[in-house]
Amino acid sequence: MKVVVVYESMFGNTRQVAEAIAKGVAQKALVSVLNVNDVTAMMLANSNVVIVGAPTHVHSLSRPPSRAEAATQAAEPERELTLEPQSQGIGVREWLASKPAIPEYFAAFDTRMDVPRVLSGAASAKIDRILHSLGGKRLVPAESFLVDTKNRLESDERPRADAWGAAVAVATS
Ligand SMILES: Cc1cc2nc3c(=O)[nH]c(=O)nc-3n(C[C@H](O)[C@H](O)[C@H](O)COP(=O)(O)O)c2cc1C
Repeated sequence: MKVVVVYESMFGNTRQVAEAIAKGVAQKALVSVLNVNDVTAMMLANSNVVIVGAPTHVHSLSRPPSRAEAATQAAEPERELTLEPQSQGIGVREWLASKPAIPEYFAAFDTRMDVPRVLSGAASAKIDRILHSLGGKRLVPAESFLVDTKNRLESDERPRADAWGAAVAVATS
């Protein structure tokens, strides 16, 4: 089994979750982690499973204006946020709109604020819907990982992401 984890991230939290998920997957399968700007058709064609994650912006997947707003926030020193190197590129919304040929199986995740889901929305719901419409088979329900009000990943989310990755890997076997 080959698994590719594709992520988008402005402040680094979704990347950290993607890396923790990959650690969990690695117990059972070969895994690579890629920023959405680095995905190639060849990489997808060589994988059995794609796991896709993104930050929740305005209740769903980011768009260019919400990413610009994130960059503005990161420029405010008191927030102590660092923009990811590839945050200026495309996001998962634009990548999925290009209708990539995806592997047979998929799973979706997001990061979002730690408030009731009805208030936060969840980018993973949108990712899940699109991957399904592209013909993918869902391995596990979409999952959210939580950041606090300062945009820092909550302390137990990394091990939870690791365990979720392991569960995805088990579902593939
Ligand atoms: C412009 C903008 C809009 C956001 N909108 C939401 C939202 O609607 N719901 C939510 O839960 N979090 C929202 N957030 C918080 C993000 O989900 C959070 O910054 C993200 O999970 C951090 O991931 P990253 O470090 O990978 O960018 C928003 C953040 C930004 C910058």
